[in-house]
Amino acid sequence: MKTHRRGQGVLITGGSSGLGRGLAEQLAAEGARVALVARRAGPLAEVVEAIRARGGEAHAIVADVAAKEATYAIAGTAASLVGPIDLLIHAASTLGPVRRDGLPPMPLLLDLACEDLAQVLEVNVVGPFRLTKAIAGAMVLRGAGTIVGISSDAAQEAYPRWGAYGASKAGFDQLLRVLAAELHDTGVRVVTVDPGEMDTPMHADAFGGDHDPAKLAHPREVAAKLLRALDDASVASGARIAVSSIPSIPSISSNSRDEVSS
Ligand SMILES: NC(=O)c1ccc[n+]([C@@H]2O[C@H](COP(=O)([O-])OP(=O)(O)OC[C@H]3O[C@@H](n4cnc5c(N)ncnc54)[C@H](OP(=O)(O)O)[C@@H]3O)[C@@H](O)[C@H]2O)c1
Repeated sequence: MKTHRRGQGVLITGGSSGLGRGLAEQLAAEGARVALVARRAGPLAEVVEAIRARGGEAHAIVADVAAKEATYAIAGTAASLVGPIDLLIHAASTLGPVRRDGLPPMPLLLDLACEDLAQVLEVNVVGPFRLTKAIAGAMVLRGAGTIVGISSDAAQEAYPRWGAYGASKAGFDQLLRVLAAELHDTGVRVVTVDPGEMDTPMHADAFGGDHDPAKLAHPREVAAKLLRALDDASVASGARIAVSSIPSIPSISSNSRDEVSS
């Protein structure tokens, strides 16, 4: 068990499912104090209870990251529950409108309502930016902290039907890259992460009938690799971590598939 995370304050948005859940479980197992944000109270409570049942510390904050009025409530509640935030992970995200009637789940750009684009940007860019602003100042004052934006290859590749999501991921990536440059020498590290394709509800929504869990990484494997990369001091602020380039960890890979639901 790693000890350097013992007592660290961690805030993860999207902590009730998929990669956010995988990260929360591993961080809590390593002794971090973890606060998790999601909109639906039920799945979030289930994750918190599972972590506590294994002796970890976890807390639920039911909130929508896109809601402006929730920003300081999330930041303040998290700090009061787990102490100063050492690690902020933005994993919550939306694809925008998806259909589940057998037709391609996501719309072409010319069929995308501008209101739907705006909503994707609120969830994936503006809300996380507000939360970053609410948390990063204290990190700068303390001269320490890590901010992680979970991105996607859709931020860099022009996949048809992924326009709104891809633009939002590219936009938040660039905000974090500039933030990393602006916080140079403050002790605060800012990174973005391409997690690769994972077996999660979001992937199932995006790919509909083409979602084949057997061909996808488990979010717990991805979480383990990502946390290993964050432990690597040579990963500089402003870096983009591609999880697919990190070697597997045999013990995690073999144990994970039947233990975490996403
Ligand atoms: N799965 C993939 O193949 C893949 C590939 C590339 C990148 N990613 C990225 O990886 C990250 C995690 O994705 P995932 O596949 O693990 O997702 P997931 O399993 O579908 O989980 C999404 C999480 O975000 C929460 N969430 C969604 N909208 C929210 C909002 N407005 N406010 C607060 N919480 C919200 C959800 O809970 P509620 O619904 O209860 O709010 C849930 O906890 C995302 O940033 C995604 O874009 C995923």
